[in-house]
Amino acid sequence: MTKLSVNINKIATLRNARGGNTPSVLKAAIDCQLFGADGITVHPRPDQRHITKRDVINIKSAITTEFNIEGYPSEDFIKMVLEIKPHQVTLVPDGPDVLTSCAGWDTIQYQQYLKPIIQQFKNEGIRTSIFIDPLAPMIEAAKLCGTDRIELYTENYANQYNSNKEQAIEPYILAAEKATEIDLGINAGHDLNLDNLAYFSKNIKNLDEVSIGHALISDALYLGLENTIQMYKRLL
Ligand code: PXP
Repeated sequence: MTKLSVNINKIATLRNARGGNTPSVLKAAIDCQLFGADGITVHPRPDQRHITKRDVINIKSAITTEFNIEGYPSEDFIKMVLEIKPHQVTLVPDGPDVLTSCAGWDTIQYQQYLKPIIQQFKNEGIRTSIFIDPLAPMIEAAKLCGTDRIELYTENYANQYNSNKEQAIEPYILAAEKATEIDLGINAGHDLNLDNLAYFSKNIKNLDEVSIGHALISDALYLGLENTIQMYKRLL
């Protein structure tokens, strides 16, 4: 079954708005696990505008479910991940100033750059995933980078879902087939929500994990965190 990893960046954004510890990011991570999340994802950014390094350390020691750290592989990020040893690291090509991840890796251009970084994580037993668009050449080159998994960047799917869901899913079906053919695990994320998740999950074979933050935390304001996590899980 596809795992649901809950991205809790938005809890940290809310906490940081006031400077104190409400809501508690650590409690949110523990509760998401209690409420049925199969994993917790965080995306510490260089400016620490939501998740801080302290959060990452605290969460690692408090949860037993899968811990996924996403980020751009700067020297500081690599050092932190090697220290903390999460179950999975997801590499994104973001510059420090972007609002949210907005592009997949060009795994052809950055192959020589990514290869040793991925190897370093794998040497420490950390599963690796790289964020990419659903394009066959990028998936083939991702394999050559040595990664265990790819994370399909689903923003385009989400944007097109309401106008033409058959067309929206097509590149992702082909991408998943290609990934399976060359033995890459498949994660997916970005802009997945209660409306578009079921169709994605139903059509994408061998989907290992989805990572969902913005919509899930927003839904939780109305529906409650426990109920929301269960609703997302039922769609998988
Ligand atoms: N995957 C990656 C690589 C991301 O950067 C994000 C956003 O932090 C997500 C998944 C989750 O996206 P969303 O918050 O839209 O669910």
